Amino acid sequence: MIRRVFSIIFISIFLLTAISSSAQTKSRTGGVLAATPPMGWMSWNYFADKINEKDLREMADAMVSSGMLKAGYEYLFIDDGWQGGRDNRNNIIADPAKFPSGMKAFADYVHSKGLKLGIYSDAAQLTCAGYTGSLHFEEQDARTFAQWGIDYLKYDYCGAPADSATAVARYKSMGDALHKSGRDIVLGICEWGDRKPWHWGAESGGQLWRTTADVRDKWKSTKQVGAAKELHGVGAGILDIVDINGGLSKYAGPGAWNDMDMLVVGLYGRKGPSGDLGGVGCTDTEYQSQMSLWSMLASPLAASNDIRKMNAVTKRILLNEEVIAISQDALGKQAERKINDEEWSVFVKPLSNGDYAVAILNRSDKTKNYSVNWAKLGLTDQYVIRDVWQHQLIGKGRRWRGRVLSHETRVFRLKKV
Ligand code: GLA
Repeated sequence: MIRRVFSIIFISIFLLTAISSSAQTKSRTGGVLAATPPMGWMSWNYFADKINEKDLREMADAMVSSGMLKAGYEYLFIDDGWQGGRDNRNNIIADPAKFPSGMKAFADYVHSKGLKLGIYSDAAQLTCAGYTGSLHFEEQDARTFAQWGIDYLKYDYCGAPADSATAVARYKSMGDALHKSGRDIVLGICEWGDRKPWHWGAESGGQLWRTTADVRDKWKSTKQVGAAKELHGVGAGILDIVDINGGLSKYAGPGAWNDMDMLVVGLYGRKGPSGDLGGVGCTDTEYQSQMSLWSMLASPLAASNDIRKMNAVTKRILLNEEVIAISQDALGKQAERKINDEEWSVFVKPLSNGDYAVAILNRSDKTKNYSVNWAKLGLTDQYVIRDVWQHQLIGKGRRWRGRVLSHETRVFRLKKV
């Protein structure tokens, strides 16, 4: 009897350990895969499926020359449209007209620049834009991706059944295939939050999961939305995505991120995927808010503007090293939403050195003054306050009071006195 009890306890401990360790895939070098939110540039909003190796090489070059790579944007994420079907052995191939040198050569080029390469597929026969997907070819495609030197896979869900069980199974099948491929390949789940992937994404082998419909280049949807799903028809604006992710903090951590979709910073209403459904463009203040809130909420940071020619404001927003330090902080906490009313949202993100990042968003259409006692946010000490957009210390004490522009996010780093 005692032996049976012991063996039941032993088996339970073993199963619990197995479940919790599968939730954080170890990299082949022993660390956590995607230990901080992945950063890079993604092709979709700028090029849609009209991609080719010449333009993408220019983007790789620009990631280096603009300072993006140095700031932490290390992935070049190729989105939909690269595929050219399968060869006579069913190996997936790049479209030879778009990638005449082949994907391996492109990956070599990207790696020679010190960048990593992301690619895209779908858990059905066809992708969202109608190209070849990976269903039933998971292991073969994962092996091909590994041979090419792919470092990241965005795995979409167009053309797949709506139920959760199928989604979990299909993502797990690709998660396992990538794991077996012999290379560290980060898996980004992209089923748009419809089946609450924050509950099952990590166990399926994903390191991040999109939480909403596609981001549009706009501040917010004109319709009040309650659930992520409702955003599909109306288009998700920056504020809509913040409001959904604000409630998901507890699901994030190293190797497990809520993906708020691409940054639209610097797109200025460009026609294309982010320009439809009311995507008329944002103000620079709104773009500054997106960068601030995506960093606070520990979302991946995937720029999607033309980084070959960025104006000074776009560069200032995307390359703000103090904001990026908050995004990439080793503790890997997603900020918690402490205040959320008609006019204000306030977030707090604990940082690895004991500091706190605090973000104050003015949701209203007017410039307003705001006053907050840190204790109201659970921060009960005295702090030195650094404004990470102004790059300077702005005060010391138990509170802050000041002006916030309409749709602006003030971000402070608080250090205990
Ligand atoms: C879906 C995804 C987008 C993009 C397109 C490509 O809509 O959510 O991010 O990858 O497919 O077709």
